[in-house]
Amino acid sequence: MNKKEFWDNKYLNNKTGWDIGYASTPLVKYFDQISDKDLFILIPGVGNGYELEYLWKAGFKNVYAIDFSEKPIKNFLDRNPDFPEKQIICNDFFEWSISIKFDLIIEQTFFCAIPPALRKQYVKQTYRLLSEQGKISGLMFTFPLTESGPPFGGSIEEYQGLFREKFTIRKMEECYNSIPPRQGNELFVILEKKID
Ligand SMILES: C[S@@+](CC[C@H](N)C(=O)[O-])C[C@H]1O[C@@H](n2cnc3c(N)ncnc32)[C@H](O)[C@@H]1O
Repeated sequence: MNKKEFWDNKYLNNKTGWDIGYASTPLVKYFDQISDKDLFILIPGVGNGYELEYLWKAGFKNVYAIDFSEKPIKNFLDRNPDFPEKQIICNDFFEWSISIKFDLIIEQTFFCAIPPALRKQYVKQTYRLLSEQGKISGLMFTFPLTESGPPFGGSIEEYQGLFREKFTIRKMEECYNSIPPRQGNELFVILEKKID
């Protein structure tokens, strides 16, 4: 959903079924093979931020994140008091702008949390925020798309149709190292920004 109150209430009432409590295995494996610690990385809809914490502790200093709910941001900062506050932004992802261009945007249960009607805006906003050779990498759910999310699913064909005008699809395939409850239900994607 794209309503801040919807997500605020989930956090305030501890109804956070998506929150696995640690950085997800496929993303950790992906992060571990990145050698350039100077990359500018953004995690939208970061929630409690376990992937952000992992990257920060691994020495990536230019990691940024955004979420419009205050509670998970506070949770993250309580766990990571040395993290620069200006790099975790409390704002609506779709209304936000920043002068930085990111090399990498990490996807983890944000794309599938927003209403499908906003997916074209997700493509536009990620495209706008990425540097010339920037990319989106991460996970997207692949169960049938229904109205009864979040999470909202989708298929490879839909995702290809959505991204291919603005992104080169380097990888979009069943994730082989998902955490057990998500096995068979998610894709690992690498989507590289096309140059205008
Ligand atoms: C399903 S949760 C995922 C959180 C985190 N990625 C995780 O895996 O634990 C979706 C998150 O996106 C945030 N969110 C939803 N719509 C947003 C928007 N338009 N702008 C910023 N954050 C948003 C919610 O507050 C929530 O923290």
